[in-house]
Amino acid sequence: MIIKSAEFTVSNTKISKLPPCVLPEYAFIGRSNVGKSSLINMLTGVKGLAKTSQKPGKTQLINHFLINKDWYLVDLPGYGYARSSKSNRLEWAKFIKNYLEKRESLQCVFVLVDSRLEPQKIDIEFCCYLGERGIPFILIFTKADKNGVTKAQKNMALFRKELLKYFEEIPQMLLTSAETKFGKDQVLMFIEEVNQTFEVPEIAKTEE
Ligand code: GTP
Ligand code: MG
Repeated sequence: MIIKSAEFTVSNTKISKLPPCVLPEYAFIGRSNVGKSSLINMLTGVKGLAKTSQKPGKTQLINHFLINKDWYLVDLPGYGYARSSKSNRLEWAKFIKNYLEKRESLQCVFVLVDSRLEPQKIDIEFCCYLGERGIPFILIFTKADKNGVTKAQKNMALFRKELLKYFEEIPQMLLTSAETKFGKDQVLMFIEEVNQTFEVPEIAKTEE
């Protein structure tokens, strides 16, 4: 798929203020600093479209980016970075959970995982959370350039094995690098395929 346009639309914490749910959208989630915003910039080919930082906790809101005037990429704040409390590792902003559970036009969640690391409990827990609620997701392993593809694939296999403890069917797994653009076509092809199956949710029709 060729990206002809990519534009920032809106930042939000309130799901009532999101754009109407008439276009398919894909949300990026994962631990802080895993490379969600960088991947959005890599896929769209627009540097600086989504704000990135070396420090975790950069993205704080739900950010919609309209692509080819036809679908949205959604950048979300990361989990696992709590300066305040560590009481519940998955109890991060309610508005994100609300978004993930209620957004009718959300076609698939991209769970980003650092390809340099062996499976982390918080990522497995997050996959289980999505699985329990029936929210469709795939796994995107990031930073493939840092430790090399072989090491990354080894960690992907370990992740798969860990997930098999909880899932009968393992979601698709892709390997990417925002630095070298590795995996770009695969992610865009996935989106293109899912876009073709999109139907405007009933709720959006009645809102008009
Ligand atoms: P939060 O918004 O804080 O949750 O982080 P994020 O997941 O959006 O991460 P972000 O895209 O801001 O990237 C974090 C850091 O990792 C930045 O310094 C990026 O340059 C770096 N980074 C992201 N992706 C890659 C990659 O594929 N390769 C390399 N080498 N560095 C990357
Ligand atoms: Mg970010």
